[in-house]
Amino acid sequence: MKIAIPKETREFETRVAATPETVKKFAALGAEFAVQAGAGDGANIPDAAYQAAGASIAKTFAATVKGADVILKVQRPTEAELKSLAKGQKLFCIMSPYNEPAIMEALAAKGVDAFAMEFMPRISRAQSMDVLSSQANLAGYKAVLEAANAYGRAFPQMMTAAGTVAPAKVFVMGVGVAGLQAIATARRLGAIVTATDVRPATEEQVQSLGGKFIAVKNEEFEQAQTTSGYAKPMSDDYKRQQAELVAGHIAKQDIVITTALIPGRKAPVLVSAGMVASMKPGSVIVDLAVEQGGNVEGVELDRVVVTANGVKILGLANMPGRLATDTSSLFARNHFNFLSPFIKEGALALDDEDELVKGIRLTGNGAVVHPNFAAKED
Ligand code: NAI
Repeated sequence: MKIAIPKETREFETRVAATPETVKKFAALGAEFAVQAGAGDGANIPDAAYQAAGASIAKTFAATVKGADVILKVQRPTEAELKSLAKGQKLFCIMSPYNEPAIMEALAAKGVDAFAMEFMPRISRAQSMDVLSSQANLAGYKAVLEAANAYGRAFPQMMTAAGTVAPAKVFVMGVGVAGLQAIATARRLGAIVTATDVRPATEEQVQSLGGKFIAVKNEEFEQAQTTSGYAKPMSDDYKRQQAELVAGHIAKQDIVITTALIPGRKAPVLVSAGMVASMKPGSVIVDLAVEQGGNVEGVELDRVVVTANGVKILGLANMPGRLATDTSSLFARNHFNFLSPFIKEGALALDDEDELVKGIRLTGNGAVVHPNFAAKED
């Protein structure tokens, strides 16, 4: 079995889908590797390190994937890359089929079996394979560091001979994997932390990290979590009540970190331009949902917007990619943890009845087969 590791070419992408560690682990199961030259550059992994792990280095994308049975990537291929893929190849990456369904359809038409790692079912067996969690965790951490860097003041309370420096007030909106890590990081830096979410389970999690929980707790809130653990889209009435509650609170905050997402939809707008205008000059907002449209009105992808009242809105693209060495290492292990149980006598034998395989398979036998996208019969 030959596994290909191309260099990522999408804008802002610095990560790589395999590390020398996972190359060695796959090799022990009988796999051979072709790694594209420079694939690990953004993650500080030189070609020589892949070679030392037993991989061969190929110059171009086309040469890397030629004859490969399995292609491991971080991001979905570009249109240009699609041309080099061949029937029967299996591709595993973040596919973002809602953002760009045409790529999924083109892969199906080519007979490539594409698997969306971000669709991994959220069951305990799959925790070690979950790319959303592994990447969001580090993104939540880095968001706080970026905020601290852009903030012209200190995070912890400091008692000095010249007087006391007040602690920063940090408000985290959306307490999933990224939000929880943001709370923990801001607390470690000494900030006073509050947080909000629509899923009731998050209240206790916020409190256990030393934060204060704020939310509109009505009947809709009690029902806001789906069976897969995600948030449901909230009604206009809930959003109005939430905005009223949050508006008063945000005006008193120094830092706001937003992470709220709804799978397959545009991110909910939680911070209006009016709320931003109510904040003090020098306050900082980091919008981790910027790639899904943003939680903050006025955010711009990969830009720092400074508002008329001196608030900085950071819409940094690909936050996990800012810690590419660690995030690549976790991403690579997610790939290995998913695939390795299906490698039998050096070949990949996916079990199509397995709920994880069913959950992430987008295309098969020349068609889009995932229930969320497959053509409905009349
Ligand atoms: P996510 O990235 O989809 O969303 C981030 C957060 O935003 C969520 O907590 C969500 O409730 C919140 N949110 C959505 N709409 C909102 C709104 N209008 N206002 C305020 N907050 C809003 O979620 P993520 O981080 O992927 O995790 C969701 C949950 O899934 C986790 O907390 C965990 O319970 C579960 N999980 C389970 C795993 C497993 O068992 N394998 C692995 C990872 C997560």
